[in-house]
Amino acid sequence: MKIFLDTADIEEIKIAARWGVLDGVTTNPSLYAKVGGSYDAILAQICKITSGPVSAEVIAEDVEGMLTEGRHFAKIAPNIVVKVPMSETGLEAISRFADEGIKTNCTLVFSTNQGFLAAKAGASLVSPFVGRLDDINQDGMIVIRELAEMFAIHEIQSEVLAASIRNPLHVTQAALAGAHVATIPFKILQQMVHHPLTDKGIVQFRKDWDEARKNAAK
Ligand code: G3P
Repeated sequence: MKIFLDTADIEEIKIAARWGVLDGVTTNPSLYAKVGGSYDAILAQICKITSGPVSAEVIAEDVEGMLTEGRHFAKIAPNIVVKVPMSETGLEAISRFADEGIKTNCTLVFSTNQGFLAAKAGASLVSPFVGRLDDINQDGMIVIRELAEMFAIHEIQSEVLAASIRNPLHVTQAALAGAHVATIPFKILQQMVHHPLTDKGIVQFRKDWDEARKNAAK
């Protein structure tokens, strides 16, 4: 399973890239609002850090508006993927982008049928929101599992991208459910690195080493 960072924060992206675990990035208007500045400039910077897919989300709700915004994003770098919300106009835009050879990520997917339609329309990435389904007392991971299975059975080329990941367990569950990608907030990526026994073990090894060196010098 590929790991994307779900952020517009350049420093976080640089760190994940240095760790060697970064396969791509997803942004959205809410994540952009946290950092501010020029969205285009941020996208260009991210595309320099990773050669993996970088999702840039359209704001327009009509097809022509989505196409204008998406074509603009696609010119920023070859690895830009245009993020389009699931809707009737969104499906049409996804289909038109596919005809033009522009890759898309269909976002705000909450049901298996929505994901199926997004794939049919030609989205290269289909993003079910796991955490937001969990928030309303539905098991978000079911949509991931069903779409992964459906795409495998029918040899559908679209990839299932587990989004709205809220904790490290979601990442493990998404991988085991067959997600091709999980997009993860930086804080959760950090949580995945750490384990109390690992951190305790590092401190203990250093302590024992220092003690042994002190004794050897006597
Ligand atoms: O990229 C969109 C998605 O990951 C949002 O997550 O936590 O706002 O539901 P969240």
